[in-house]
Amino acid sequence: MIHDEWMDISSSSGACRRLRVRIAGGGTPILLLHGYPLDSRMWIPLIERIQDRFLCIAPDLRGFGESAEERFGFELADLASDAHALVQRIAAETAPIVCGLSMGGYVAMRYMAMFGDQVERVVLTNTRGNADDAEAQKIRRETASKALREGTEPTVAPMLQKLLSSRSFATRPDLVESIRGMMFSTRPSTVAWALMAMANRPDSMEELSRWPCPVLCIAGQEDPITPPDALQRIASRIDGAPYRIDPHSAHLTPMESPDWFAEQVVAFCSPTRA
Ligand code: MLT
Repeated sequence: MIHDEWMDISSSSGACRRLRVRIAGGGTPILLLHGYPLDSRMWIPLIERIQDRFLCIAPDLRGFGESAEERFGFELADLASDAHALVQRIAAETAPIVCGLSMGGYVAMRYMAMFGDQVERVVLTNTRGNADDAEAQKIRRETASKALREGTEPTVAPMLQKLLSSRSFATRPDLVESIRGMMFSTRPSTVAWALMAMANRPDSMEELSRWPCPVLCIAGQEDPITPPDALQRIASRIDGAPYRIDPHSAHLTPMESPDWFAEQVVAFCSPTRA
């Protein structure tokens, strides 16, 4: 059973912040960091499949989903600090597995930079380790302005086509609609702050080899946003990091292929993994 809870945490600046968090199951904590412009609902198919083995902690990150609106911008490191504060509140005794998709992967990388010595394992999916180049930063800043001027829907609608595989579009109208709903319900200010935060993110490629715990990299074969080679490049920097590709998904592998994704996570995180 998945519980939706409100949690008040003190952020890095000392301000109190209210986040909505989905919590389910028991065992080793697994922190699930969602992508942009989505929220913790994207993890429900995975949570349903792994809650018998893990304590799943899936926040709506600052300003996303039902979490409190943000009046000012933020950095990805702030989202990582929030997530760490939540883990401390919910499961302080056991080091968590940190699992992030796309923007959530960027947040996981900041989490590792700040709290890596307190992490058990990492799962990076549909994400990349390098920073944006100048052109990508410019596009993000223009898109952020558009979100504040015109609202969420016209700003993020073109992205929907890139999130799912052709197979998902052909066979899963329910999935398409739920993702569209999640995207369009994201506040324009959050769309803008998140785009600025992603534009400002540092390059993580150099840090990867110093991470002190095992890392699993997962890609979707049809992902045009963070293509398989982006994950392969991350895996190649980390000694022994397994790299898996799902042939049936694009950018949202845990939603498009939840059975397969859950198997990968369970196999990698079980103490007896091969
Ligand atoms: C995401 O899915 O979180 C974003 O598309 C990542 C990005 O734009 O770099």
